Amino acid sequence: MKIFEIIATTLFGLEEILAAELRELGAADIEILNRAVKYKGNQALLYKSNLHLRTAVNILKPIATFYAENEQQLYDNIRKIRWDDYFSAEKTFAIDGSSHGAIFTHSLYVALKSKDAIVDQFREKYGTRPSVDIEDPDLRINVHITDKTVVVSLDSSGSSLGKRNYRLARTQAPISEVLAAGIILLTGWDKKCDFIDPMCGSGTFSIEAALLATNIPPGRLRNFGFETWNDFNPALWNEIKREADSRIKPPGAKIIARDIDKKALDIAIPNATRAGVKDFISFETYDFFQTQHDSGQGLVLMNPPYGERLKIDEIISFYKDIGSRLKHFYHGCDAWIISSNYEALKHFGLRTSRKIKLFNGSLECRLQKYELYMGSKKAGKNRNETN
Ligand SMILES: C[S@@+](CC[C@H](N)C(=O)[O-])C[C@H]1O[C@@H](n2cnc3c(N)ncnc32)[C@H](O)[C@@H]1O
Repeated sequence: MKIFEIIATTLFGLEEILAAELRELGAADIEILNRAVKYKGNQALLYKSNLHLRTAVNILKPIATFYAENEQQLYDNIRKIRWDDYFSAEKTFAIDGSSHGAIFTHSLYVALKSKDAIVDQFREKYGTRPSVDIEDPDLRINVHITDKTVVVSLDSSGSSLGKRNYRLARTQAPISEVLAAGIILLTGWDKKCDFIDPMCGSGTFSIEAALLATNIPPGRLRNFGFETWNDFNPALWNEIKREADSRIKPPGAKIIARDIDKKALDIAIPNATRAGVKDFISFETYDFFQTQHDSGQGLVLMNPPYGERLKIDEIISFYKDIGSRLKHFYHGCDAWIISSNYEALKHFGLRTSRKIKLFNGSLECRLQKYELYMGSKKAGKNRNETN
């Protein structure tokens, strides 16, 4: 099979994790970029990347790279690509444009100019043109410009890989599926110790943890852009899906999802059912401040409210209480908290053992780790307290 270059895009801070996922899939020549990873592989790896990668957003196949100093050069070079190798006038397409640098400053304009070039080529050759369908095109094209360098790619994912198709309903402020999976991989969860999601909302952390622990591919419930490509190989694709299904197994860890709000669980449980992991997660309506975990092990992963709607002293005291509950009732666990509220995090009252910068949507956040030691209350107090 022919080897070609592939680019997997991701979120800020997840590049190394994505590279590790790619290494496991057998990718070659892995190179870390800004919010993306470049690698080489064949058609099978392109399909596998879409099905298996938990931290990728889109899998792009570059088809042309050139320099453009102005819009005319962009138009001319895009028009030079033989578009009928990739699709035909009866098909639909969409263009995602992105540009960084001083020359091309409007991504939307880049997309528009590229669309004109493609449409004009078809019209000239066939007297007819493909139509644009932004929602559900047969072919999604990506035009990425950095200063004068233009990379034109086919988007083999079609829509963002974060759309796993299990989260049809959501509570307020859910974390994206890609970010949730990335955070779990960043924690280094061994898939053996208990996984506790005490403020689960729509259940994204627990569902992603269960998918990971059962080897269920994150893309199992969806379709991909490459399935409508001219060179689509259904036999290869079916073989890859069959092989992936044969590796699914029951999880080796207990996964617990709790929320104080019963309505959140009414959303989380159907999401887990759709994802095929409901039976592997224990859902419970509980106030975190009434809970404890005394088996001496476990990974607690929390996405508490960031407090946009609360007064600053209310949110500080909420975070202080979370820290205190963890310290006294979760001995032996590792706790990881993601929040954009740096002021409230400062008052957590526990010693931070790791800090990782991430973005939840447009919100800059920190993922912080706390090790909650076993032992006497006094020893725990000395080691855990920051002051
Ligand atoms: C930011 S949301 C979590 C979103 C979740 N990660 C998701 O992907 O949908 C915070 C959640 O914390 C819950 N919560 C707030 N206070 C709580 C408490 N004392 N005990 C348990 N859950 C609580 C809220 O009901 C809300 O669902």
